[in-house]
Amino acid sequence: MNFASDNIVGASAQVLQALSQANAGAMPAYGGDEITKRVKARFNEVFEREVSVFFVTTGTAANALALSSAVPPYGLCVCHREAHVIDDECGAPEFFMHGAKLAGLPGVGAKLTAEGVSTYLKGLSRAVKQMPPKALSISQVTECGLVYHPDELKALGDVCREHGLSFHMDGARFANALVSLGCTPAEMTWKQGVDILSFGGTKNGCLMAEAIVVFKPELAEALDYRAKRAGQIVSKGRLISAQFEGYFADDHWYANARYANRLARLLSDGLSELPGVRLAWATQANEVFPIIPASMDKALKEAGILYHPWTELSLPAGETIGPDETLIRLVLSFASQEQDVRKLLEIARSAAPRQAAE
Ligand SMILES: Cc1ncc(COP(=O)(O)O)c(C=O)c1O
Repeated sequence: MNFASDNIVGASAQVLQALSQANAGAMPAYGGDEITKRVKARFNEVFEREVSVFFVTTGTAANALALSSAVPPYGLCVCHREAHVIDDECGAPEFFMHGAKLAGLPGVGAKLTAEGVSTYLKGLSRAVKQMPPKALSISQVTECGLVYHPDELKALGDVCREHGLSFHMDGARFANALVSLGCTPAEMTWKQGVDILSFGGTKNGCLMAEAIVVFKPELAEALDYRAKRAGQIVSKGRLISAQFEGYFADDHWYANARYANRLARLLSDGLSELPGVRLAWATQANEVFPIIPASMDKALKEAGILYHPWTELSLPAGETIGPDETLIRLVLSFASQEQDVRKLLEIARSAAPRQAAE
């Protein structure tokens, strides 16, 4: 049983079918094909306005290229200190920004607040020796499984406007956040001031398909050149866009995300009931972050269940991990099995410490 991430599974049958259909025959290369045109038009519908879309193969490429279009080499990009862009991309954003820097701020649950960002920005010197802030990047879902509400996004968007920053959203788990909030893609992005989005497909059913969606037209101006220089203009481009065609058809992406979030809720509720277990952060999408007794951690591992330990950096104030406890991350995907969730809960239950007698 594997709860390590939502990219440990393959692609969904529906995406593979779309891919297989797109495979037949000859079509223009480098995105000049009809499928790519159709899918770009579909993105306009999804976001209820005209957007520029660039297809890439990884989330790292989406983030690095999106940020490179928003931040000049002398600029600063503000993000959370645990953000994927700063912690898990081997410096790709800085590499593609050609010298620009990421500034990591603290925040509970890997979330930034408008107040925190505003205070940080106001504290920066305007002197030429300091890099000027040019962008804000947030992750929706955050690295601790939390979701920004549209009001929180709006407040961050307002801070960006006030300080002249572009607003980037890393939406590797965009669909999981969307169904959790029950809002529209527009309400979760440009309507709150988001300028550029890394739209994830891979974790929620695609084989390898991510898109950079641009709402602020000037950020799209050179993105195709930047993508080409990064080796991200796929010659058989229809095989990337076809994945999105399958992904969007019949609201497949919503169904996948709802399924993953439902299983996460089942797991979260089951674990929270057990003595000795508490959640580090609320379960709001498809990831669960329980703090469990070391004996339970051992039992789960001995049963062959795979998952990652997680960092304590962004715990709520007053929360600590005891010497006999471990903070772990369990991730659910469109392909997770409910019976595996129930099995995990059974093992955790039998390894839970007995409650003290009344
Ligand atoms: C928040 C976040 N952003 C981006 C990514 C995409 O990374 P990759 O380059 O592995 O596709 C991930 C994947 O783990 C992620 O969790």
